[in-house]
Parts: sequence; structure tokens; C-alpha cells
Amino acid sequence: MATSSTKKRPQIVPPTPANLEAAGRLIRAGRLVAFPTETVYGLGADATHGRAVAAIFAAKDRPRFNPLIVHLADRAAAEEAVVFDERAERLAEHLWPGALTLVLPRAAGSAISPLTSAGLDTLAIRVPGHHVTQALIAAGARPIAAPSANRSGAVSPTTAAHVAESLRSRVDMIIDGGPCPIGIESTVVDLTRPEPALLRPGGVTQEDIEAVIGPLAAAAEEGGAPRSPGRLVRHYAPRLPLRLEAEEARPGEAYLAFGAHQAAAAATVLNLSPAGDLPEAAANLFAMLRRLDRPEFTAIAVAPIPEAGLGRAINDRLRHAAAATADRPLAGGGAMG
Ligand code: TXA
Ligand code: MG
Repeated sequence: MATSSTKKRPQIVPPTPANLEAAGRLIRAGRLVAFPTETVYGLGADATHGRAVAAIFAAKDRPRFNPLIVHLADRAAAEEAVVFDERAERLAEHLWPGALTLVLPRAAGSAISPLTSAGLDTLAIRVPGHHVTQALIAAGARPIAAPSANRSGAVSPTTAAHVAESLRSRVDMIIDGGPCPIGIESTVVDLTRPEPALLRPGGVTQEDIEAVIGPLAAAAEEGGAPRSPGRLVRHYAPRLPLRLEAEEARPGEAYLAFGAHQAAAAATVLNLSPAGDLPEAAANLFAMLRRLDRPEFTAIAVAPIPEAGLGRAINDRLRHAAAATADRPLAGGGAMG
């Protein structure tokens, strides 16, 4: 029997038509394929296949109570999985395909495995815009359940190399589509209540969503339980502590700059966006955190990031990472996965 040391390493392959066909066959056979999306890399399997979905949770060491997002080709496919309302229709019309995940009631008789949604009667769905994601969904001819392709609790991967570092022999194929253009996970909006709620800030801004359906409520906790189960999971944690809103680095710290903020001359500095551009900063965030997460530093000091547009999602991830590395519970903020 193969052990982890003798098991074949997953192939990292370019998204050629032949490789996408092979990936589609793997999906239909209930196997795991890591793939690029416009947000982060996903770890995908056939969402209708209970054992395949169970294999995703096992590969990530993900708690079974934390439900997965289902990736679909288009709105027609989405309407077979969930019950749309008028708000969902408007958001789909304006913001799909894209980095927006909608939580809606499961459709009666939906083919999606209950394990995908961790037994909930709601389902998170999204229609991705990345051409490789769309090609994989077409080749597999199945709805694809996929969390971010990292071990549970680690920083999301934005390159195929990041996926290989953390999941190695636990996936059957890694499709390399280059760096993810947005670089931060999708925005998760809960439409199962009269008042729409933001469960996780992400790649589509709150401002863009509110322009379509009006004000979003912040996700409140109910009876001590967060409405998005991912909130319970330790998240986005580099190994080093993070120090946020830092105007400059202290001795021993690495510095993650933004815009004109400069660190002390001696510090190792990466700049999320020298021009102060939030989309550029989001695209660089996870890769730069990984690059600075090295034992020769005592901590990563991070420059202040404006709390608007994509800055909300960036600050949400930074606050969760800081809370996780400080090992203290986080009050407020978005939902994690
Ligand atoms: O951009 C993304 O969203 C990436 C790519 C691969 O699509 N995926 C991703 O998945 O970030 P994941 O599993 O890392 O995060 C999914 C988040 C978690 O916080 C989870 O708790 C929440 O969505 N979620 C999923 N289904 C839900 C549901 N039915 N109700 C509430 N929250 C849900
Ligand atoms: Mg995740």
C-alpha cells in the first residue's frame, strides 16, 4: 500500500485543453483537483459526490461543521442548486461572474451533497469569472465544491506553488493558471434573511454590493454562534505575530508597507502597493505575508491600510491573522474559511 512518502507527488500542469480534460475526468471520478480562480486557488471536487466532498475536508484537516462554496458555470446552474430571490437575481445580474458568494436556501431536490453545506439547509454558491475555473467546470460537467486550497488555518494560496507547499500529495492534480488576479477570497453575502448580511468582506467591495441591493447588515452572532461557521476556525495565520497600524518597523521586525509608508532603513520591507492602490495590495497580500514569515524576524509590522473598498477585506484578513497569532479571540470582523 502506498504511504505518504511513496505516493506520487501531484502533477502541477498548465491549463491546456488536454490537461483540463484529464482534470474533468478526475472530478467525475470523485478525485481532488486544485485550480486557480480570480480570488485564490481552490481545492475542488464533485459537489454532488459525498465521498469526494469528504476527501476535501480530510485533505485540508478542515472541521466538518465548516461548509464549502459550490462553484457553478452560470446562473441557470445556480438556480438548480438554490432558491433565488429578487436580491439574488439583481446581484447575479450585476456582479457575476465574479468574486461574490451568495448564501441562499437549498433548492428542494438539489443534487448537492449535504456534506458540502455541513448539513445546513442553506448553500453558498458562486459563478467564478476566471477562464480556467470556467473551463474546469465545463470539463468536469459537475458543480465543484471548493474551499481555498490550504490547510485549515493557514494563509490562502494565490499561486500553484503555494498549493504544492501545503497540500503536496493530498491532491490528484494542481492546475497552474498563474497568480490569482484578485488575490483575496470572495465576498460572502447571506440572503437567507429579510436583511442581507455581509458574512465575509472579500474581492467584490461592500460599496459595489450596496449599489445593487442597498445597505448590508454586519453579520451578527446569534445565541453565541456566528452565522458563518468559518468564523469559529482559527485563520489566516502566518507563524510570526503581526503588528497592525504600524507606522514603522521596530528592531527585528519585517515591515509590510503600503503606499508612501516607509520603514526604518534597516528593516526588510515589502510594499503591498507603492502607489497606494488597493487592488494591487489585495493581489500581493497573501504572497507577501508568506515571504516575510521567516524565523529571522520577531514579527511582521504592517502599515495602516484605508478601511474602504478592498481595504475592508485586506484589514479583515490582517485582523484575523493578528488575532490568531496572538492566540486571543477576535471581536467583530468578517467570516472566515
Ligand atoms: O474566493 C473564495 O471564496 C475561495 C475560492 C476557492 O472560491 N473559496 C473560499 O472558500 O475562500 P473557504 O471554504 O475557504 O471559505 C468559505 C466561507 C467560509 O467562511 C464558510 O464558513 C462560509 O464561506 N460558508 C460556506 N457555506 C456557508 C453557508 N451555507 N452559510 C454560511 N457561511 C457559509
Ligand atoms: Mg479558506
